[in-house]
Amino acid sequence: MPEPSPAHELHESRGDPMRPSPANPFKPGKPLICPELFAGRTTQLSDGLGLLKQAAAGNVRHGAITGSSGIGKSSLCWQLIGAATGEARFTPTLAAIGIGRPFVFPVAIYQCRLGDDAESLGAGLIEALEETLGMKRPSVAWEVSLDFKVLKTQFSSSPTPTAMTKAFIRTMGVAWEKLAGQVDGLLLVVDDLELIAKTAGVGAFLRNVTEGLVASGLENVLLLLVGQTGFLQHLQIDHRSIPRVFEPIRLPLLTPDEVAEATRRALAPTAVGIDEAGLTEMGDRAEGLPARVHLIGYHAFEQAASDVIGRADIRRGLEILVSDKMQDEFAHRLLSAGAGRYQHILFRMASESSPVVPTSRICSALALDSNQISRYMRGLAERGIVVRVNRGVWAIRDGLYRLYLRHRLGLSGWLSATDAAAEASHPLPPRPKGE
Ligand SMILES: Nc1ncnc2c1ncn2[C@@H]1O[C@H](COP(=O)(O)OP(=O)(O)O)[C@@H](O)[C@H]1O
Ligand SMILES: [Mg+2]
Repeated sequence: MPEPSPAHELHESRGDPMRPSPANPFKPGKPLICPELFAGRTTQLSDGLGLLKQAAAGNVRHGAITGSSGIGKSSLCWQLIGAATGEARFTPTLAAIGIGRPFVFPVAIYQCRLGDDAESLGAGLIEALEETLGMKRPSVAWEVSLDFKVLKTQFSSSPTPTAMTKAFIRTMGVAWEKLAGQVDGLLLVVDDLELIAKTAGVGAFLRNVTEGLVASGLENVLLLLVGQTGFLQHLQIDHRSIPRVFEPIRLPLLTPDEVAEATRRALAPTAVGIDEAGLTEMGDRAEGLPARVHLIGYHAFEQAASDVIGRADIRRGLEILVSDKMQDEFAHRLLSAGAGRYQHILFRMASESSPVVPTSRICSALALDSNQISRYMRGLAERGIVVRVNRGVWAIRDGLYRLYLRHRLGLSGWLSATDAAAEASHPLPPRPKGE
């Protein structure tokens, strides 16, 4: 271990039994609220801040943050919420888009749940707004006394969808009347919308709300929808114009540089670092998903014995994940892939040294003709387990799941793809202990 520098002494360190080891800084399964840990996404952040700027200027343009699960939608949203509520650490970012002072937006957040409909969504937003406005905190810049009881009753007892929309707009109108002059606008956030995007009436409600807000001159009320890719198209079942009303903010996979940045940012407050080989390994394994950076990082950090995380620590973290922590989830995913041949195909694909597998390889190994294989592959693709990379070429969608299958096959080179081909003759996987 190197001599601790004065900078080291500020932090807790590891590797020295006399000193307490630092707490794990990775945050699997939690959206990032703290901007210091937020990597990349400059375009999307600036697009989102642009929407706040529009709303503050009384010419709202609503937004929709979209992307796959774990790509960082909620985290981006929390960065925008931080900026909207005037957190000082966003001042430089705001200055970059021509805003010279912090924003003041009361924020209402609604997290969708399966089974919700337009009514629970609207009522949830009203309740969240009531809670925000009622908060007694020194940082809160507004002062309102509003009788939400009547407004809530009017909303919940609305006999028709039209009456419900009107009651919702009226609530926003009453709130805005009291707040105008004290705040820049209202920010209404709806997260995980994919859960209810296909529910009848949800698309119509959102669309009617945006129309109603304009018609009532409530152009400082910003609706920010958040959901998995395709949710806007599902809402479209109700209203074809939905994608035109909401400015899409699409989140792509992180680049390898951004994966490295996310890793370094997480580690920065600790005295633990990561070497180049560790960063490369993380880049290869995270597959551009910030959720994976935090999941793998968490377990690599737990495994690391020294102040520098290296490739071996990341690999030990991966092993813990596939053999233990994610075993139940992955075993369930295997069951839901289908019985018999479905599973044989997956194991066959996983045993290949390349993640990208031509159907001809599977055909010969399992003695099936290409028509039979196509049917199975389509079934696996519909369940989101494999993706078609090219005509007749497939890949297991989730690299970590592929590693789980390779580990379960007992391939000695389960982590390094190279020597796997030699072992690829396994007809069936051994059953893991305890199943
Ligand atoms: N830009 C980012 N930089 C670093 N980590 C991030 C970033 N965005 C998300 N994360 C991390 O990735 C994980 C998934 O993020 P989240 O926002 O919950 O994804 P989603 O809402 O798209 O499912 C969380 O652990 C979060 O801390
Ligand atoms: Mg989320």
